[in-house]
Amino acid sequence: MGWLFYEACHEDDVPVGGKIKAMVEGYPVAIYNVDGTLYASGDYCPHERVSLADGGSLDGELLTCGAHRWCFNVRTGDCLEDEGFPLKRFPVGRKNGTVFVGFWDDEEE
Ligand code: FES
Repeated sequence: MGWLFYEACHEDDVPVGGKIKAMVEGYPVAIYNVDGTLYASGDYCPHERVSLADGGSLDGELLTCGAHRWCFNVRTGDCLEDEGFPLKRFPVGRKNGTVFVGFWDDEEE
């Protein structure tokens, strides 16, 4: 039981102020670079599941979905339109230029 980290991309793939989509263990993840700090969430909007990496915009910590312009904070996961629609966030790790995303493993050992 605990976080398992999987390789997602290279640091250079996500420039400052940018966002990308990465497939991690077959799961679509959006990775955001806010002033050099990386954050990750599921690559689907909690509103109607449109990709967050492919459209919209990132301005500092604030992500705007391209579909209906809902706004989210990628650091906290908060949805600014409705608190009942937070981002599904994942922890991010880095080692030797590689970016890792953590998935919670709740299997008993
Ligand atoms: S699908 Fe993102 S705001 Fe509607």
